[in-house]
Amino acid sequence: MIEKIVFATGNVGKIKEIQAILADLDLEVVSMKEAGVSVDIEENGSTYEENALIKTRAVAACLEKMGQREGTVVMADDSGLEIDYLNREPGVYSARYMGEDTSYRIKNANLISRLEGVEDDRRTARFVCAIAAVLPDGRELTSRGVIEGRIGYEEKGSNGFGYDPIFYVPEFGCTTAELNAEEKNRVSHRGNALQEMKRQLQRIME
Ligand code: IMP
Repeated sequence: MIEKIVFATGNVGKIKEIQAILADLDLEVVSMKEAGVSVDIEENGSTYEENALIKTRAVAACLEKMGQREGTVVMADDSGLEIDYLNREPGVYSARYMGEDTSYRIKNANLISRLEGVEDDRRTARFVCAIAAVLPDGRELTSRGVIEGRIGYEEKGSNGFGYDPIFYVPEFGCTTAELNAEEKNRVSHRGNALQEMKRQLQRIME
């Protein structure tokens, strides 16, 4: 019996988004902090899926030790930006690119300068997100979502976070930093991956 989802993130914005998307599963969704879990996790996997699984397994092991694993699905995500011209960099290293503490102003300016002189059709890029879940019985699930776009020529927009101001989506004629949260969630890599994970959980809970 599944009663609760513990999501391995400290990011309040992500928790709200996840609660909204998973609302019709009728399960309590809490952050790992709210579940009383504090653990330092080394994300040393070579794919988004591996990193997401590393997080879910670490949090599941903590909950097990606390005697709170029963009825709980542990979920985590891992995401990144892939720029085709840069051989899909920064990819799984997106958060660590140029150093974890370097501002995104600097990271974004650096990426734009590395694409100097590169024409529109070779500036293709995508945000990728993998979600992993470990069920109460130990079964593991993964899902993946993608949003395709291009690297812009300058930063635009102030919504979102990270690489959003340089991620231009031709379909919308703007960057993901120019979409509001609701619009972005509807089309984003994370939104798509969560929807797919929801479908997998619904099938299991039927
Ligand atoms: P994590 O998945 O939270 O470990 O971090 C992935 C990193 O990829 C973030 O720190 C951002 O640099 C980048 N990233 C992932 N999703 C987005 C997004 O929706 N907008 C902007 N940057 C993103």
